[in-house]
Amino acid sequence: MTRDYTIKPMITADRIAARVEALAAEINAYFAGTEKLVVVGLLRGSYVFIADLARKLELPVEVDFIEASSYGSGTESSREVRILKDLRSPIEGLDVLVVEDIVDTGHTLKHVLKLLASRKPNRLEVCALLSKPSRREVEIRARWIGFEIPDEFVVGYGIDYAQRNRNLPYIGAVEFSD
Ligand code: PRP
Repeated sequence: MTRDYTIKPMITADRIAARVEALAAEINAYFAGTEKLVVVGLLRGSYVFIADLARKLELPVEVDFIEASSYGSGTESSREVRILKDLRSPIEGLDVLVVEDIVDTGHTLKHVLKLLASRKPNRLEVCALLSKPSRREVEIRARWIGFEIPDEFVVGYGIDYAQRNRNLPYIGAVEFSD
């Protein structure tokens, strides 16, 4: 059961596109000369962001995915992080960019970064589209953040509420009716 809600626009598709372009320019410069950059998307929320970001990268890119789950179908983050799907390929000695849609408490990313770091990549960096600093429970080292947002429940551009609204082209804040 989901509650009744409306969606208030927060970040337009145009603003997202401009920010993605700027982030890609920084990432291109940072990883310039790399032999291979493995761009790792965290399913499912990052699928829109990684599609747009990866197409702006002018580097030898491989794309892989990992799926972790922490939210279930409600709005409360649980502390338990489970890996539901692992990478297809080894990353030892390679440059890796983890692409995340939103960093909330930080538990998901911390868990995933610890796992990936244990595989001894060359460089391991994070690009997150959204961050809610006021919600952070564990410290996260993300070199690139698209937008810092207040503690509102957001949807769109890959992010869901109870699996809905991932396909919205913009980011909106959920306003519950009750
Ligand atoms: C969401 C989001 C992040 C994570 C952030 O994923 O996509 O991965 O939660 O929360 P945290 O910083 O508090 O750990 P979710 O588990 O909802 O899966 P999804 O990407 O499939 O929507």
